[in-house]
Amino acid sequence: MTSTDTRPVAEPTAEEAAALDQLYADFAAAHMAPLWTQRAGLMPETPQPAAVPMLWRWSTLYPLAARSGELVPVGRGGERRAIALANPGLPGTAYATPTLWAAIQYLGPREEAPAHRHTQTAFRFVVEGEGVWTNVAGDPVAMRRGDLLLTPGMHFHEHHNTTDHPMAWVDGLDIPLVRQLDAGFFEFGPDQLATRETPAASRNERLWAHPGLRPIGAPRTPSSPLMAYRWEHTDAALTAQLELEREGHPGVVSPGHAAIRFSNPATGGDALSTIRCEMHRLAPGARSATTRVAGSAVWQVFSGSGVVTVGTQRYEVATGDLFAVPSWAPVTITTDEGLDAFRFSDDPVFEALGLARSTIEKAVDEEQAVDEEQAEKHA
Ligand SMILES: [Fe+2]
Repeated sequence: MTSTDTRPVAEPTAEEAAALDQLYADFAAAHMAPLWTQRAGLMPETPQPAAVPMLWRWSTLYPLAARSGELVPVGRGGERRAIALANPGLPGTAYATPTLWAAIQYLGPREEAPAHRHTQTAFRFVVEGEGVWTNVAGDPVAMRRGDLLLTPGMHFHEHHNTTDHPMAWVDGLDIPLVRQLDAGFFEFGPDQLATRETPAASRNERLWAHPGLRPIGAPRTPSSPLMAYRWEHTDAALTAQLELEREGHPGVVSPGHAAIRFSNPATGGDALSTIRCEMHRLAPGARSATTRVAGSAVWQVFSGSGVVTVGTQRYEVATGDLFAVPSWAPVTITTDEGLDAFRFSDDPVFEALGLARSTIEKAVDEEQAVDEEQAEKHA
């Protein structure tokens, strides 16, 4: 029966009602549950996320992280001074969305975070500061503003701050997904750092960070062999897209909206198996198309400012601010001065499982808004 079914339903007799009550009681005693009483909740017509749109301001996060830097040591056991962004729609968890963990990690002057590895996939995104190296599988990777640094699953990793000032960045992980799948494995690494070297370029970058040039002798790896995506490359790619648009050539996502996806140079696929990472740039005065995506995302403003609407929520955002986008919530970004924003999402999981769906409302500088159903988003 559907919600529009108007067929009359006969009232059960007292005898039938009693038998039905007994049936339900017997279901419960046998640890069974009938679908017909909960179909709408289990199989909604569109996603009904418990997670809610949420904004966390960098101006709130950073001082709180700095206070923890004064009070909470980093080291073996707790492992990391990372403070997660907890979505109020997911009480009792420290999850930004049902699949994504987002945290601000703070490392004080000269501090070191010890080695460990886990099946959870991770990345670091740097909105300000430098001076920390993250050693991934013993390869020291510099962390600088605008860089995306990867830590694919089961890679030993440790951090060391080589300076006299603190540094904070955002960690993104698939902790909630791995928890839901009961796929979590964790190992402590050596107590001593693998290296305290501070090269400008890691070994993986020297091997793999040359556009379109694949090292023939490099071993195959199950995840991206490139661990660092540098801001100068990201910035140049976005700048070129907007320049090409002004010259009348294709490449932007929509008018005034440039975007790149961080990819595995060995496959062209997502840089991480469970998390999609992208950088978006809106030119001054631009308005993004309104998009809905099955699956959740977290954005962080990297520079500039603007107004973001997520569902019915409207946020004025500035550098460092993060916001969560629940599944199927429409997102629109507008900016007067221009805005760069980093986005990460569970899109690769949805695509791998055949669950990817999205709509894009072409409302940008167009009189007629058109809804386009897409089986594969941002194709
Ligand atoms: Fe870790």
